[in-house]
Amino acid sequence: MNVEELIQTAIEARSLSYSPYSGFAVGAALECRDGSVYVGANVENASYPLCMCAERNALYSAMMDGKTREDFVALAVVADTEGPTSPCGACRQVLSELFPKEAPIYMSNLHGMVQKASVEELLPFAFDGDDL
Ligand code: THU
Repeated sequence: MNVEELIQTAIEARSLSYSPYSGFAVGAALECRDGSVYVGANVENASYPLCMCAERNALYSAMMDGKTREDFVALAVVADTEGPTSPCGACRQVLSELFPKEAPIYMSNLHGMVQKASVEELLPFAFDGDDL
């Protein structure tokens, strides 16, 4: 799957978003080495802190299907933002542990903007298990 297709898959995943509180639908698509793609959308709750982001839902969905960090090759995230959609701090922390350090994360929007960054670039000096 090329980058455009991965982003398009993330755009389509937005339709799965349950976001009655923010009205902000986010979609993510996670590509694996074997060609499989796992999607995620944000799922909110009336108890706001329980909201789950699209990126983590995609990642956890893949892991529940037996995939691990070694399987992941690229991630796309899309929302209706003015600039490229940027993963939140919590997602950056989770990605820094579960997603390859140098694999591309494509941050896009509905207007065709695309910005690529690695998790290392998104979260330098990350806290990890070695710090414990
Ligand atoms: N959201 C994501 O899904 N991913 C991010 O990286 C940023 C925030 C969701 C959480 C919440 O449902 C809504 O966007 C507004 O914050």
